Amino acid sequence: MRQLSISFESKDASVQGTYLERLSTLLEHDLDFHGADTLYASHDAHSFPAKFPPQLPKKFINGLTEPGDVVLDPMMGSGTTILEAFLAERKALGFDIDPLAQLIVSVKTSPVDPDIIQRQGKRIVQDARASVTDQRQDLEVALEERWDSRSRKFVNYWFAPSTQVELLALRQEIEDIHEQRYRDYFDLVFSGVIITKSGGVSMALDLAHTRPHRAKIVHDHHGHLVLEADADHISASRLEILTKTLRSPIDEFEKKYLRPVAGIPHNFERIQPEIQPSDAQHLPLEEATVDLIVTSPPYAANAIDYMRAHKFSLVWMGYSIADLGQLRKQYIGGEAVSNIAFEQMPTPVRQVIQSIAERDEKKGRVLHRYYSEMVRTLEEMYRVLKPGAAAVVVVGSSRMRGMDTQTETCLAAIGESIGFDVPGIGIRHLDRDKRMMPASAKNGKRSQIQQRMHKEYVIGFYKPMQSD
Ligand SMILES: C[S@@+](CC[C@H](N)C(=O)[O-])C[C@H]1O[C@@H](n2cnc3c(N)ncnc32)[C@H](O)[C@@H]1O
Repeated sequence: MRQLSISFESKDASVQGTYLERLSTLLEHDLDFHGADTLYASHDAHSFPAKFPPQLPKKFINGLTEPGDVVLDPMMGSGTTILEAFLAERKALGFDIDPLAQLIVSVKTSPVDPDIIQRQGKRIVQDARASVTDQRQDLEVALEERWDSRSRKFVNYWFAPSTQVELLALRQEIEDIHEQRYRDYFDLVFSGVIITKSGGVSMALDLAHTRPHRAKIVHDHHGHLVLEADADHISASRLEILTKTLRSPIDEFEKKYLRPVAGIPHNFERIQPEIQPSDAQHLPLEEATVDLIVTSPPYAANAIDYMRAHKFSLVWMGYSIADLGQLRKQYIGGEAVSNIAFEQMPTPVRQVIQSIAERDEKKGRVLHRYYSEMVRTLEEMYRVLKPGAAAVVVVGSSRMRGMDTQTETCLAAIGESIGFDVPGIGIRHLDRDKRMMPASAKNGKRSQIQQRMHKEYVIGFYKPMQSD
């Protein structure tokens, strides 16, 4: 185990000294990374809201760990930390409850043979096109049999009939692939055909960035279906943006299937990350086994509704809408407050919850739920970290009923009550052009999103050695 007294020089000459000193120095560095390339390697393999820039985990991984050390992200999302740890030859452990997050991260870190991708991709496109032409009726029958009635209703609402036939033809070809890493690769490409900012091939006009609006088909231009937002539900200025041509899923798949492979690291010698479905509040890890955590938890009050967008592709991959709805309830920061275990809070956190509850009792409970989930998550982080190691936690504050939830100071207070030292809180000024910050159905007001978007905090939690 690393001793606190041993000094260390990282690749960055300004970061020297003990682990704790280096952590403090790194938190004072510029953490904005404006203008940095965030799309290198496989970081851009699939869209994902509220990623942090790869430079952020990279800085802490390089400054605080050595090759072979264990780096954990218990809420890995699109796996920015996991990929950076993998590239830096650390042992990466990644968890998330979101099945799409697991697929994205597995593919981003699983070397594949580009020639096989090329061959298989070409075959999928050819065979899917052939079955749309030759076996259309069979596909239509299979569409009726594929789902339970609720899931079928969802698919019918969000996908035009001709789109459904092509998507199923693609699914059948992908599901025939035996080797999992190749099947996963094409599942991810398939998902990327549906989940894009503009709702991909679905009838949703916006997906990755906001709550979806369903389009209606208004006219047929040169053989293309043109979709438009329902003007009753949307302002005239947004209506202009929210118009799209319904594209062929097979054509889109053909355009996209070679893209991710170009970025996936090809070195099979690296330490393969371990990716598992798990709740960050109950990690399947032994005590004192992790050298560094870099993570960003969800916002309070379901500010980013991951499942809302992710179910658009997951429903095609064997998940029912009912199961995905159940899973959504387990997301940290959800809005339901019945059957929730509420934790005792340190005084400053209790005061924030109380002042919001005075304005809106329900919102107070929603915030209490969030901080209770973060108590359990931080306790788990404390348990699995080695003494003398740190968790770097990136959070934004939200506003509830016009009041700041003070997430950074509340989480720091919770961490200290668990036993962490908090040597510093870094500030990140967000690059507004890059940040993807979708709003949930209930707080989709522009002003709230803007308020949330300016700043993020990078909290350093240090687990002291017994001798500290
Ligand atoms: C802000 S995102 C992480 C983004 C990530 N840093 C990246 O760069 O892509 C938060 C993630 O927490 C996950 N999450 C929510 N509740 C969770 C839970 N109970 N256990 C584990 N992960 C959870 C969400 O699915 C989401 O992927």
